[in-house]
Amino acid sequence: MIDLNPIPVTQADVSALKPGIHDPIVFGKNPTSHMLQAVFSDGSWNSAAIVPFGDITLSPLALCLHYGQTVFEGFKAYRHAAGGISIFRMERHFQRINQSLYRMAMPELSEELFLKGIRQLVALEKDWVPSDPDASLYIRPFVFASEPRLGVKGASEYRFMVVCMPMGKYYDQNVSVKVETGFVRAVDGGTGAAKCGGNYAAAILPTQLANREGYDQLIWTDAIHHEYMEESGTMNLMFVIDGKLITPALSGNILDGVTRDSILTLAQDLGIPVEERKISYRELIAAFEAGKEIEAFGVGTAAVISPIDRIGINGKDYFPSVQDDCLFYSLKNELQDIRTGKVRDRHGWNTLV
Ligand SMILES: Cc1ncc(COP(=O)(O)O)c(C=O)c1O
Repeated sequence: MIDLNPIPVTQADVSALKPGIHDPIVFGKNPTSHMLQAVFSDGSWNSAAIVPFGDITLSPLALCLHYGQTVFEGFKAYRHAAGGISIFRMERHFQRINQSLYRMAMPELSEELFLKGIRQLVALEKDWVPSDPDASLYIRPFVFASEPRLGVKGASEYRFMVVCMPMGKYYDQNVSVKVETGFVRAVDGGTGAAKCGGNYAAAILPTQLANREGYDQLIWTDAIHHEYMEESGTMNLMFVIDGKLITPALSGNILDGVTRDSILTLAQDLGIPVEERKISYRELIAAFEAGKEIEAFGVGTAAVISPIDRIGINGKDYFPSVQDDCLFYSLKNELQDIRTGKVRDRHGWNTLV
């Protein structure tokens, strides 16, 4: 029987990893001192424990290493100016990890294990949550097939782990993107809406090729027409054209981004017309050629909003606006102010730790 009340903790040796040790903070490299882990075996999740951060052992026959049954999430905890710490839209990330797990034929997590376990871990690591209002504690839950036995099949043993790491101030760097019309990321009936490792692995080569052409990221297009824009790297895609906020509709081929949903909700609060629909690069070119002022940006947990200042389409570059009065800046500020408790959390997005 899984013991979650509370999850047993083995304290880390604080002289090894302690808050402030990572200076400067490099995203992805600097874990906090504890991690959460649980094992799925004999048909249920058990052995939940919070232990010192450290290496894990895995058989070379572990199924995840061969057939790629891996799923993950990413979200953040913020320190409020008035004191206290909150985790942003944790329930929605919980629903999404279970949708990804279902698609990858992996066992779903219980609310108890995911929500309570992560709250307990973040409470233990509270001193690691940065006080800089633009910084946060990044939380990375993940599940992988650990059964040591070759053969393409659903595993009988999985591990769930959660690691955390402080994330420094994210400067608004503009990004350049290339509309990709050869490689595809997702196709109807595939895994595009799941946050599974394979989606990211398959994106690396096309992204590297675009990097060589001088672009930071790709905009993926649909697999049939190579024309309708889907998403970009680890961000959902948004445009402002004729005062309307336009974003590709959820089709099963893109990730149902939590930041996407938050920005659409805030835009509606502000009375900005929102369209969730297909948008082709031809429509975008026509808008640029008509001389319209266009905003383009990516939205996601890591960067919040990344302004796009150059879009390469079939060998020609187009230049969206990144002026100070762009709409995306006010949406970004509003979202940040909710996450850090500066304005009222009117949608109930913050879980206090
Ligand atoms: C492929 C992909 N699209 C979109 C997003 C943005 O999603 P979210 O806002 O939930 O972080 C991410 C990041 O998780 C991603 O990996």
